[in-house]
Amino acid sequence: MRVTLTAIKADIGSIGGHIRPSVSLLKEVERSLQPHLGSDFIDFRLSYTGDDIAILMTHTHGTDNPLIHQIAWDAFKAAADVAMKEGLYGAGQDLLKDAFSGNIRGLGPGIAEMEFEERKSEPFLLFAADKTDPGAFNLPLYLAFCDPMYCSGLLLSPNMFKGFKFEIMDVSYTGGDKVIALVAPEELYDIAALLRDPERYVIKAVYSRTTGEIAAVASTTRLHNIAGKYVGKDDPILLVRAQGSFPATGEILEPYALVPYVGGFMRGSHQGPLMPVKQNSSVSFFDGPPIVSCTAYCVKEGKLSEEADAFDHPFWDYVREIASKKAIELRRQGFYGNAMLPYGELEYGGIVERLKALEGKFEIRH
Ligand code: 13P
Ligand code: 13P
Ligand code: MG
Ligand code: MG
Ligand code: MG
Ligand code: MG
Repeated sequence: MRVTLTAIKADIGSIGGHIRPSVSLLKEVERSLQPHLGSDFIDFRLSYTGDDIAILMTHTHGTDNPLIHQIAWDAFKAAADVAMKEGLYGAGQDLLKDAFSGNIRGLGPGIAEMEFEERKSEPFLLFAADKTDPGAFNLPLYLAFCDPMYCSGLLLSPNMFKGFKFEIMDVSYTGGDKVIALVAPEELYDIAALLRDPERYVIKAVYSRTTGEIAAVASTTRLHNIAGKYVGKDDPILLVRAQGSFPATGEILEPYALVPYVGGFMRGSHQGPLMPVKQNSSVSFFDGPPIVSCTAYCVKEGKLSEEADAFDHPFWDYVREIASKKAIELRRQGFYGNAMLPYGELEYGGIVERLKALEGKFEIRH
């Protein structure tokens, strides 16, 4: 059977700053989705990562379906009203447009969708990140799909020998989707050259070169492109299919042990280590550190299995400790140099005015 996975996430308000949504927000999203269960979509799950709520839906309507998008938009809208009533911080934060016009893309919420023919067993992973931008998934995806140091299947599994195709988006372009397709291993260095700059080049999707099937799809929303100013961090989501002609689940997870420094953290303006956390975790230290959760499922005829929390394991406690150490180490240098993002990212915030005012006070001495 052909099934579509739709993952949509939004920050619609949170408790005590940018920490986590309230239980009543999650209940309101659920109340809004429930009547559509079994008719408009087959199954759904709700979770949060930091202050972002993720809706995962399974259905047969394909990607970019207006009805499915509308259902998610209405659920977030209804919950944003609750957030407003509760006086939560940033109520409706990611709902940047007032009216829904057939597609949730460009309205604020992050979206990752894929349609495929279900395999006999269809394991997949939903990643959700908070306090970072879509480029945060660049390195983990590159390592899982291109690098035999991480993905042993590239050496051991014949149905992966041909490698994978990457669709990479230039998210600085605002006139539409500017996308390039590159294949690994032949164009590995070109792929790396782009992914090096995660604020600009972002992996949109990955495809198997053996079967042509979609392997991964990520949200690429840059909120400052929509709003024209800093209105919160993008906090991306990612769907990845596992096993068979795709990397094994453990190969997809391994790169997260690196806890790479990513853009985000406090005011979306810093660098911080990407800490793998359990589902439904909040953020804390310096509005961070940037976090990523991962829930694993199987889907059968559109019905979701029970979920397995991929980062809820003693191994990742040790990794979280490393992430904390890396966070503290970089935070020691405060605003200085690499601890903050480059000016190109900061120019959507208030520092522009400060620097402009100072510019007039410079004098040229000969
Ligand atoms: P199991 O024997 O536990 O299923 O493991 C198979 C495998 O290949 C793991 O990567
Ligand atoms: P969020 O996008 O998670 O709301 O983060 C905004 C922020 O600026 C935190 O300091
Ligand atoms: Mg927030
Ligand atoms: Mg957030
Ligand atoms: Mg955000
Ligand atoms: Mg097994």
